[in-house]
Amino acid sequence: MKDRNGREINYLRLSVTDRCNLRCIYCMPESGVPLIDHADILSVEEVVRVVRIISDTVGLSKVRITGGEPLVRRGVLQIIKGISRIGIEEITLTTNGLLLRQMSKQLAEAGIQRVNISLDSLRDHRLKKITRRNISLHDIEKAIQAAFDAGLKPVRINCVLMRGVNDDEIPEFLEWGNSTGVTVRFIEHMPSSLNQSIFVSRDEIIEHASLSGTVRRQEDDGGTAGIYTVGNGVYTFGIIAPFSDPMCKTCNRIRLSARGTLVPCLASAEEVSIREPVRNGADDESISRLVHQLVINKPDSHGGCVSAEMWKIGG
Ligand code: 5AD
Ligand code: SF4
Repeated sequence: MKDRNGREINYLRLSVTDRCNLRCIYCMPESGVPLIDHADILSVEEVVRVVRIISDTVGLSKVRITGGEPLVRRGVLQIIKGISRIGIEEITLTTNGLLLRQMSKQLAEAGIQRVNISLDSLRDHRLKKITRRNISLHDIEKAIQAAFDAGLKPVRINCVLMRGVNDDEIPEFLEWGNSTGVTVRFIEHMPSSLNQSIFVSRDEIIEHASLSGTVRRQEDDGGTAGIYTVGNGVYTFGIIAPFSDPMCKTCNRIRLSARGTLVPCLASAEEVSIREPVRNGADDESISRLVHQLVINKPDSHGGCVSAEMWKIGG
């Protein structure tokens, strides 16, 4: 269905947990997030039911499973299977990759078609600093291989850029992307507890990439990222720029949090709890009406004003 601005809303980002096995500095406090009671999280059956109602209401063509880290959610495979049965064309997953090696095959069998993996540095000492956990590039490369082996292709890599932390690695990332067979997407940092001076803009990203050759923007493919080529197509990369390039005009998504709130836009204070009606015995039709109303009223734009508590609503 279309919202009041004529945008066709057909993409749901579904956060299945707030929890994570990493503590990325731009995302979570070192102590982790305040743990919410399991009872406050939608159950597998509730999630699948709500997604079905959303799909019946708006006509979903894509669901992306996110977190926190979705693979730490018990029951994630059942959720994916349940959503597959609804008959949604495209089901994808965003993960930090730590559990992907052991889960790729099951994920593919459950109905995941593609994965995006977060990786913010190619250097182990930096990875440890950024994620505050003992992970290495080797772990992520194994995860990528496992994804390939399970047929989860193409794999995209998400890299949040931070000045003085990893912004000198763009040429290396381009080279590594080619040798590994993945596309890297650089992401503008959204406000977090980090000092804003770490923000690296889209133009600065392009400038860094120019060290590897002439950068040209490609036709938009309708996705979240602007696509760029370097040196006559030697490299291809993406930039996700919520500030420099908000993309609100073509935004086709809504979000459902693990707690069961439906969020029309990252910038919006407006959100509707679906959990309460679901637990109070509401029928499909009345839940559908809530969804309909929220989608109709999706805000025009976030004007670059987004706050990132991404673990809560899904990165
Ligand atoms: N800025 C930009 N992206 C963020 N993510 C989480 N926090 C932020 C932030 N402050 C995104 C990253 C990460 C995904 C899980 O969420 O892309 O890979
Ligand atoms: Fe976890 Fe992703 Fe947040 Fe990192 S960015 S702490 S991997 S949810």
